[in-house]
Amino acid sequence: MDTSGSSLVGICLFLLSLGGFSSSSPVLDFCPERCDCVHALHLLCANRGLRAVPRAAARVSVDALILSLGGNFITNISASDFARYCKLVRLNLQYNQIAAIHPQAFEKLSRLEELYLGHNLLTALPAGILPENFLNLDNLVKLRLDGNSLEVLQDSVFTNLANLQYLHLEHNKLHHIHRNAFLKLTNLRFLNLAHNKLSALTNVLSFSHLRSLTVLLLSENEIRGLSSLREFLIDGNELEEINAGWLDPLERVEVLDFSHNRLVSVDPSAFSRLTYLKVLRLKNNFLTSLSGDIFAFNSVLQNIDLHGNNWTCDCRLEDLKRWMTAAHSQRKLLSVFVQCHYPETLRGKYLDYTEVQGKGFYSLGYPCASLCRAVTGQSLWVSRICFNWPTSDLSDVTSFWGCR
Ligand SMILES: *[C@@H]1O[C@H](CO)[C@@H](O)[C@H](O)[C@H]1NC(C)=O
Ligand SMILES: *[C@@H]1O[C@H](CO)[C@@H](O)[C@H](O)[C@H]1NC(C)=O
Repeated sequence: MDTSGSSLVGICLFLLSLGGFSSSSPVLDFCPERCDCVHALHLLCANRGLRAVPRAAARVSVDALILSLGGNFITNISASDFARYCKLVRLNLQYNQIAAIHPQAFEKLSRLEELYLGHNLLTALPAGILPENFLNLDNLVKLRLDGNSLEVLQDSVFTNLANLQYLHLEHNKLHHIHRNAFLKLTNLRFLNLAHNKLSALTNVLSFSHLRSLTVLLLSENEIRGLSSLREFLIDGNELEEINAGWLDPLERVEVLDFSHNRLVSVDPSAFSRLTYLKVLRLKNNFLTSLSGDIFAFNSVLQNIDLHGNNWTCDCRLEDLKRWMTAAHSQRKLLSVFVQCHYPETLRGKYLDYTEVQGKGFYSLGYPCASLCRAVTGQSLWVSRICFNWPTSDLSDVTSFWGCR
C-alpha cells in the first residue's frame, strides 16, 4: 500500500504541476469538499468538522483505496454516501456520531477489507439490517465496532463476512449474543468482547463455531462463574469424552446439550453432581454404552435424548435399561429411545422393548453381569466379546477366559 501510495504521490504531483494547481486538474476533480486529495489513493477527510459524508466532486467513480473520515460529526450514513467509492479497501469512520446506517450503505464496497466504525453511537445492529449492510463485504478482513452502545448481537448478524479475521466489539453494552451470531465467521482469528455486560457462559458458547479463533478477549464483563448457569449448550463441537468432575462446577444446570459431538465415552460419575438436571441431550455422537448408574443422582431428570448413537445392546446396558424401566414406572421420565445397533440380531430394536434373556441379554448359560464385570476389567476385549457373543459359539468366550 505504501509503495503504491508513494508512487501515486509522484503521479499526483506530476499532474498537479501540469495543471498548475487549478481546480480543473484531473486529480482534484473528484476531491470532496474540505478533503485533502494529494494522495489520490488516500482521501484524507479526517477532523474537518464534517456533518455528513462529503460528496465526491466528479460524477465518475473514484479510484481512492482509502477514505479517512475519522473525527468528524457525521450522524448517519445514507444509501448513496459511498456509491462512488467502489474501489475502497479501507474506510475509516471512527470517532463520529453515527447512530444510523442505511441498509445499503456499503453495498458497492465489495473490495473493502477494513471497515472502522468504532467510537460512534450505534445502539443496535438489528437482524435484517446488518446482514444487508454487510451483504457485499465478502473481502472484509477487519471490522471495528468498538466503543459504541451495542446491546445485543442478533442471529447471524455477521453472516456475510466469511473472510473476517479481526472483529472488535469491546467497550459496548453487549449483554446478549445470539448463539448463531458468529455462525459463518470461520476465518475469525481475533475477537475482542472485553468491557461489555456479558454475564453468562451460554452466551460465550456462541464461540463454538469459530474454528480459527486464536484470541478471545472477555475481560471486564460480568461473567459470574458457572455455578448459576442454567443451560450449557455445547452441541456441534468435537468433544470426544466427558470426564469425571468436568461438569461438577455446573451445580445449577438444568439443560445440557452435547448433541452432534464425537463423544465415545461418558464417565459414570459425569452427571453425579448435577442434581437440577432436567434435560440432557447426547444425540448424534459415537456412544455405544452408558454406565447403569450414570443417572442415579439426577432425580429430576425428565428428558434424555440418546438418538443417533450406535448403541451396543449387550449386558453392559442392562443396568441402564433397569434404571429406565424404574424411572418410567414412576412416571419420572419421558420416553428414552435407545436403538440397538449391535449386536446385529438386535439392530433397529429399542432397548426398552428388548427382552432380557435369562440373566443377561443373551442366554449362553453364563450370568451376564459377572461376565461383564470381568470383561470390563479388560476393556480391550469388551467390544469383541460383547459384539460376537450372541452370534458366535462359546469359543470367543473361552478364548477370552484363556487370555485372562
Ligand atoms: C441523515 O442526516 C441528514 C443530514 O446530515 C438528514 O437530512 C437526514 O434526515 C438524516 N437521516 C436520518 C435517517 O437520520
Ligand atoms: C453407525 O454404524 C453405521 C454402520 O453400521 C455407520 O455407517 C454409522 O456412521 C455409525 N454411526 C455412528 C454415529 O457411529
